[in-house]
Amino acid sequence: MFEAKTYIRRRDFLKKQVQNGLILLLGNDDSPMNYAANTYPFRQDSTFLYFFGLDTPKLAAVIDVDEKKDTLFGDDIDIEDVIWMGYLPTVQERAVAVGIKLTAPLKDLAGLLRDALAKGRPVHYLPPYRPETFLRIEALLGIKPEEAKAKASPGLTKAIAAQRSLKSDQEVAQIELALKTTFKMYVSAMHMAQPGIFEKDIAGRIDGLAIADGGLTAFPTILTKNGQILHNHSHSNKLKKGDLLVVDAGGQSPLGYAADITRTVPVGGKFASAQKEIYEIVLKAQETAIKSMKPGVRYRDIHLLTARVIAGGLKALGLMKGDVEEAVLQGAHALFFPHGLGHMLGLDVHDMENLGENFVGYDESIQRSAQFGLAYLRMAKELREGHVMTVEPGIYFIPALIDKWKKENKFLDFIAYDKLARYRNFGGIRIEDDVLITKDGHRLLGKPIPKTPAKIEEAVKI
Ligand code: GLY
Ligand code: MN
Repeated sequence: MFEAKTYIRRRDFLKKQVQNGLILLLGNDDSPMNYAANTYPFRQDSTFLYFFGLDTPKLAAVIDVDEKKDTLFGDDIDIEDVIWMGYLPTVQERAVAVGIKLTAPLKDLAGLLRDALAKGRPVHYLPPYRPETFLRIEALLGIKPEEAKAKASPGLTKAIAAQRSLKSDQEVAQIELALKTTFKMYVSAMHMAQPGIFEKDIAGRIDGLAIADGGLTAFPTILTKNGQILHNHSHSNKLKKGDLLVVDAGGQSPLGYAADITRTVPVGGKFASAQKEIYEIVLKAQETAIKSMKPGVRYRDIHLLTARVIAGGLKALGLMKGDVEEAVLQGAHALFFPHGLGHMLGLDVHDMENLGENFVGYDESIQRSAQFGLAYLRMAKELREGHVMTVEPGIYFIPALIDKWKKENKFLDFIAYDKLARYRNFGGIRIEDDVLITKDGHRLLGKPIPKTPAKIEEAVKI
């Protein structure tokens, strides 16, 4: 974990934003796979990690804003735990390590919250996302599971989203550690992208590299020759020469920070000319987006700039037509680029998505669009120094969507449906990097991973 002073500073800052009442922050528990003792790998709640740094289950904390007191709730382990799981320092010792003086057993938490509520003091909590947390909130605060999200504190949620959005140097260093692991994952994936191998062979290897570096993957690896399925988690296909393999993966740093990279590689090491043409458009779109990233620019505007590069490139190939500006304004490009340009990155791969995208990527100055494609933007508001963003444009040929739009005669002025037949089995291409917003521009994070067609072809060659 970081030094105690980091967590003390973070909690003190939060107290100033929330101003009164109690803040209840719940750690995660182990999650059973098929019976209670057989669990998924433990993942601590990211907000709990951010303010308390303790990466084990069965912990909770209360920040008393009025009395400026932080209390860690947890139970010391007993001899049974020592026999089966090994030694763990006492709750008191672990609290001290993160700058907390007060500790109490978990059984005291409900009483403390009941007393506060009886005195009319506000108890702020965040929207839950795990089923057991909904039940815990009911047990602790008497709020029914179906109301628990709606009754979460908007003030606390907004304050934490704002605070966690601005990454400190030590957080950026953690993301770069995750990227170091991710670099190794990509070198290996590219090298392995050869005819005759299965997707699962590569996925297993690169996930193993993340585990071997001491962490987990930051999210389930996407590795597929069906890149047109945006979040395809099947790894069952055998690869053949000429397939386009989309790999969207990332490691996690020792303190839980994520990396999120995507590369698209030609199996066997040579892009076909039609593949290279589309690849070059996506690459130009991504590089144009990155170049324009700096404080004060709305990410929605950069998304739209990217969309114009994509529409312009597809027009040059004869797949789109008409006025590019107008096509993007009306949303015609979303047939090929139906998702947002990117999202914040931090302790979560989609950072703070559990707090609500509208708190993280939008503010009073910018509302979510209702237009297909634009509606999915996770981040639309102005960039600020300290934001870490993914930049991940793509071009996809999604047969079901093409058929639907064609049947509906959608955007006949902008889409050359007759030319699309040749691309029906093309798949998809996405390119993604992680970028820090600096005082007057941006910095690409991590050691560059091969990205130009020439560098990728070189990396795939055995
Ligand atoms: N890496 C998966 C995503 O950004 O959704
Ligand atoms: Mn991403």
